[in-house]
Amino acid sequence: MHHVNKSIELVENEFARDVVAGLSADVKTLPSRWLYDERGSALFEEITKLEEYYVTRAETSILRERQADIADFIGSGATLIEYGAGAGIKTELVLAGLRDPRGYVPIDIADAFLAETSKRIASRFPSLCVRPIERNFLDVFEVPFDGSDGRRTGFFPGSTMGNLNTIEAQALLMQMGRHLGDGGRAIIGVDLQKNVDTLLRAYDDRAGVTAAFNLNLLERINTELGGDFRLEQFKHVSRWNEIEKAVEMHLVSLCDQRVTLCAQTFLFRTSETIHTESSRKYTAESFERLARAGGWKVAEAWQDADALFGLFGLIRY
Ligand SMILES: C[S@@+](CC[C@H](N)C(=O)[O-])C[C@H]1O[C@@H](n2cnc3c(N)ncnc32)[C@H](O)[C@@H]1O
Repeated sequence: MHHVNKSIELVENEFARDVVAGLSADVKTLPSRWLYDERGSALFEEITKLEEYYVTRAETSILRERQADIADFIGSGATLIEYGAGAGIKTELVLAGLRDPRGYVPIDIADAFLAETSKRIASRFPSLCVRPIERNFLDVFEVPFDGSDGRRTGFFPGSTMGNLNTIEAQALLMQMGRHLGDGGRAIIGVDLQKNVDTLLRAYDDRAGVTAAFNLNLLERINTELGGDFRLEQFKHVSRWNEIEKAVEMHLVSLCDQRVTLCAQTFLFRTSETIHTESSRKYTAESFERLARAGGWKVAEAWQDADALFGLFGLIRY
């Protein structure tokens, strides 16, 4: 197994740069990818099991029911390249349905999870060549070819696409086109627009797991950047942004306060928020437009029985 590793210092510098820039802006924002340190990734796995979080259940039901159709779409002898692989639970469903799969390339910034997922999948599918890549998939990078790759197929489940703004999403779709090559295909899972109550509850569960996931970002800043955030002085909220068609997660300051990190001080007014994640919700039509702008056409559109979630099979133009 090859492991493309970035130095820890570089990651820490990027983190510091993003946090300082994000908290210095008029509207305080932090990139959602920093939510996924080891604890954040574990909390996300807990979220996927919550009653309110229909997203994982709906997508998994499509992957189960359409396993044979998905395998036909991908074809035999393929290599699966997964963007934001996380725990890779759904990946096993796809791989198990494939005829003679050759390779699996999980890409993720969450290093601990990436190693665990790669190990588990390599041991369940011993004939598969597993080559994890630890990277921000928004950076421009190559996926080195392996002689036995066969046809490459991209897999981007979990509605992670929804965390990207339109420019990032288009850039990633184009990068996927470069990675997957001529004749490349991709399977992308996106959450569909639905009533706002259902959406908001999915991002603000009664047990408080999503709140812990969001607040963990402040804990991470405290630990890794020497910050002095007092977590009890911030509250998790989820909001619907009608213009963006997105559920936003914010951390609301409960009082006027100042926070110091990286030798800089940041002021927070009461009710001021840090915007930590957007989860955009699509319709079949709005996703098709996005895909087309990124160089892909929709060949297959699968949904669960309740039409909560969409899984799309894409072919490069
Ligand atoms: C919403 S979770 C989905 C996990 C899993 N694929 C699933 O379907 O349950 C997002 C995953 O993408 C990873 N991720 C988020 N932004 C990323 C980025 N910019 N580059 C690489 N990985 C990223 C996170 O670490 C996390 O594992």
